[in-house]
Amino acid sequence: MDMIKSAQYTQNMKVNTIIQGDCIEELKKFPNNSIDLIFADPPYNMQLKNVLYRPNSTKVDGVDDEWDKFSSFSEYDEFCTAWLSECRRILKDTGSIWIIGTYHNIFRIGNIMLNLGLWILNDVTWHKTNPMPNFLGTRFTNATETLLWCSKGEQYKKYTFNYKIMKKYNCDKQMTSVWQIALCTGDERLKGYGGKKAHSTQKPEELLKRVILSTSKQGDIVLDPFFGTGTTGAVAKKLKRQFIGIEKESEYILLAENRIKTVKTFFPEAGWIEEEKEKQNRVPFKVLLKEHLINAGDLLYTRKTYGATAFVLPDGKLKYKDQTGSIHRIGAIIQQTPSCNGWKFWYITKDDRSVLIDDLRDEYFRKKHGI
Ligand SMILES: C[S@@+](CC[C@H](N)C(=O)[O-])C[C@H]1O[C@@H](n2cnc3c(N)ncnc32)[C@H](O)[C@@H]1O
Repeated sequence: MDMIKSAQYTQNMKVNTIIQGDCIEELKKFPNNSIDLIFADPPYNMQLKNVLYRPNSTKVDGVDDEWDKFSSFSEYDEFCTAWLSECRRILKDTGSIWIIGTYHNIFRIGNIMLNLGLWILNDVTWHKTNPMPNFLGTRFTNATETLLWCSKGEQYKKYTFNYKIMKKYNCDKQMTSVWQIALCTGDERLKGYGGKKAHSTQKPEELLKRVILSTSKQGDIVLDPFFGTGTTGAVAKKLKRQFIGIEKESEYILLAENRIKTVKTFFPEAGWIEEEKEKQNRVPFKVLLKEHLINAGDLLYTRKTYGATAFVLPDGKLKYKDQTGSIHRIGAIIQQTPSCNGWKFWYITKDDRSVLIDDLRDEYFRKKHGI
């Protein structure tokens, strides 16, 4: 792995690299449409004014770092507008971006993102199972952070989302947008002098695992403009993705470098995406008829938004009003869009339950491959 002081980027980008510098300046050097996935954990702008003590008079280890200090909200907003604009420019049309924040900054950032044209796909709540108590007893214990997951814009629909993989990861249940994960503690937490935390805001690997596993493919480039201890890089490596980190503090870069160097084994999920997706993509709708998971004459229907129904024909096409076509073509006609992923558009009733036909494809796929 290389750590370079400053990077001039061409189309042949250096990957598995940590760049030391200010992220706004460094991001400007990246080509347009070059990054598959961005994860950003920017300064929170906590505005901490007083030192906080526990009831036993020990000092609370809060986020009072220099990198978190801005003179005003408008300075913070300008900073975020600058790095987010660059992130959007360098994101591939098929890419997506995740930003994590607390109530101190996430609403300002969400507003800026929307104004830049980014399109929110989910707001994921990270529910901390072991939050720091509210020592003063003046508010509820703050036990959440929010992740905004966005595509490049409303019209960019081909972003990666590994729905099946996440369902499999979640014990065969559709994953929700509430993630219960503990704060980064124990052996995972990098320690510095006297066993103190080496970085005040190191994120848990489980959080990054979900982000990277769900929204990138093996070999993709994952960029983190606020690299800190390199959680994004370590997890990217464990999932067989490539990473680029930007960080301005050399002490954190050293920590991150050493951390990533010691990664020698992959997560078992590293190979899931491509194998499963590729095979799934090769399942034609007609096969479900052959397997009697769906039968000719069955009624398929859409979500209430479209309120449409169609009949399955013996050749695997659908009959919708006076039109005949594939699940995808009829879906596109109904949505009045150029294309449609019919697998995620049509439902069927099975055992009195409404089932997405993609789930039937999954059932077939699992049986066939003994998963
Ligand atoms: C919230 S922390 C990220 C922690 C990281 N996610 C981890 O798990 O270790 C933000 C990091 O951004 C860095 N930083 C702040 N402003 C920066 C800037 N303008 N350019 C590059 N890095 C910056 C800080 O030094 C800090 O390490």
